[in-house]
Amino acid sequence: MNENIHFIEKRVTTKNLAPGKTVYGERLLQYEGEEYREWDPYRSKFAAAIRKGLKQTPIEPKMRVLYLGAASGTTSSHVSDIVGEEGIVYCVEFSPRVMRDLLRVCESRPNMIPILADARFPEKYRMFIGPVDVIYQDIAQPAQAIILVDNAKLFLKSGGYAVLAIKARSIDSTKEISLIFSEEINILKKSGFEVKENIESLKPFDKDHCMVIGQFIA
Ligand SMILES: C[S@@+](CC[C@H](N)C(=O)[O-])C[C@H]1O[C@@H](n2cnc3c(N)ncnc32)[C@H](O)[C@@H]1O
Repeated sequence: MNENIHFIEKRVTTKNLAPGKTVYGERLLQYEGEEYREWDPYRSKFAAAIRKGLKQTPIEPKMRVLYLGAASGTTSSHVSDIVGEEGIVYCVEFSPRVMRDLLRVCESRPNMIPILADARFPEKYRMFIGPVDVIYQDIAQPAQAIILVDNAKLFLKSGGYAVLAIKARSIDSTKEISLIFSEEINILKKSGFEVKENIESLKPFDKDHCMVIGQFIA
């Protein structure tokens, strides 16, 4: 799948960029003389999507990734493992309390750049970020697709990818879930994205998200 992601004993793992260190209590495993971190699909929607059959992960070694909604670093630390020491993960998070935990993770991972900012206003952090290969977004906000598109217009290279975890219940608590997902996906399509994959259900790992991979053809 990817040189820094391995399945060890049926578990998804990433090669640990900070050997000996864990981020959220995950298991460390040895494989061919290297250390890997178990990537828990119950804690990370990206790992859940891989377990649910995601065909390709658009995140590769050496890439630059803009991560919106980095929280305390659970998934973004695995993204940091995948891009490796020659890649960069710009970690945008708007909660100062959560950012304190994220800073501790960034201390041992020089490729993670913490940015305390609101993803709804990308022009406020544009001076810190160059063009990126991928935008990963996992924020519980009512206008998820629009926030992604606004960030893509400023930062995403043409041909770059978006990985979007859509939370239906943050967008509308009354509408049919499948309708909410298709409305968000239509916003992406109208804004220059080609949808490459859609994992419609992350069950049993997560009950109310879908995961969409889109390519930006702008
Ligand atoms: C579901 S959590 C993300 C979990 C994370 N992706 C992971 O798997 O480790 C969503 C995070 O997005 C942050 N968030 C929500 N709205 C945001 C916004 N407008 N800008 C930046 N961060 C936001 C929240 O504070 C929260 O930490």
